[in-house]
Amino acid sequence: MTESAIHLVAGARPNFMKIAPLYHALSRESWCRVAIVHTGQHYDADMSDNFFRDLRLPQPDFHLNVGSGSHAEQTAGVMLGYGPLCESHRPTWTIVVGDVNSTIACALTAAKLGIPVAHLEAGLRSRDRTMPEEINRVATDAIADLLWTPSADADQNLLAEGVPPARIHRVGNIMIDAYEMLRDRIESEATREHFSLPPQGYGVVTLHRPSNVDDKATLSSLVAQLAAVAQRVPLVFPLHPRTRRRLEEFDLMAALSAAPQLHLVAPMSYVPFMGLVREARFAVTDSGGLQEETTYLGIPCLTLRQNTERPITVLSGTNRLIPPAQLREAVETVLSGAWPEGHGPDLWDGHTAGRVVESLRSQIERHRAETLAGNAPTRR
Ligand code: UD1
Repeated sequence: MTESAIHLVAGARPNFMKIAPLYHALSRESWCRVAIVHTGQHYDADMSDNFFRDLRLPQPDFHLNVGSGSHAEQTAGVMLGYGPLCESHRPTWTIVVGDVNSTIACALTAAKLGIPVAHLEAGLRSRDRTMPEEINRVATDAIADLLWTPSADADQNLLAEGVPPARIHRVGNIMIDAYEMLRDRIESEATREHFSLPPQGYGVVTLHRPSNVDDKATLSSLVAQLAAVAQRVPLVFPLHPRTRRRLEEFDLMAALSAAPQLHLVAPMSYVPFMGLVREARFAVTDSGGLQEETTYLGIPCLTLRQNTERPITVLSGTNRLIPPAQLREAVETVLSGAWPEGHGPDLWDGHTAGRVVESLRSQIERHRAETLAGNAPTRR
């Protein structure tokens, strides 16, 4: 089989743990050559470089240096960078992951150049079009040639949108592969000791969604809720740059910093952060990935959102959607031991990358065979 060139695209923090297991799995294959394309959507050391180091990823083969900006600037910037790259180093396939602006920008660019696109973490839907990520998911899935889903609900969403069943391959959850790949290091990491916290004696908080942090009244109320919870149980809150900026802009930083037992810290890289989560009593979050990681680890997750694109974490896992006003009450339920137990969904087993590699290899072989037979595969 001729060597296939694969572009593996990553742009923002939640992408890096998704590409890492797949990068390592593809690197071991002789039929392909994988190149990492970093769009530069996230660029700070603690939002990007530290993750590459933790996840044992090499320097990206290509860096588009797009940086921050409005959604239009960011999406267009990635497209302007990725188009010429596809022309000069045309891949056989482009793989995009997750739901960030870089995901749709590279999928759209490749699809228009006739390059087949595979989407890892396809089919998730919150049905909330006020979230930019939901638009990125729907649009990416509409143009992808191969859709790798984490769970049965994602398959159903795609089928309901008219995606041909042959394009949908359920492979499981790649985030669990990242955790298993680094389990030894995560378990030997002493993040909790660093804060002098007892095992299962603290909560971890992450917040960064525009719906929670961009509105002053909403963020003020969240700050008050968190300060009240911290009186009951210590909290560790790594601050996303967007959240830090808003706290400063709305003059809320002093109130938050003054709260006893509330540790405000810089964003943590993957291994120390998972080391902290693993031994937490609960998590409070608006992140997508943490809803999945806590479900896998069986840790109560209080998600401060009105909906989730990952309903399986609520249906079978430990995640619950909590209105901010009920946060204290929900924490009391956790502390009383009455929080429901859950179990990890099928195929969240640490072997997703292997299934993705197999799916891609057979797809490429099939395309080649069809082309040789003079029956070139057509794109929709
Ligand atoms: C992006 C993703 C979101 C994901 C989140 C994880 C989209 C639409 N959103 O949101 O789905 O959950 O990443 O972090 O793609 N900034 C820095 N340094 C950085 C990166 C950002 O200081 O390395 C600051 C910039 O001021 C920027 C702001 O953070 O304007 C927001 O970054 P951006 O990438 O636009 O969106 P996120 O909120 O991070």
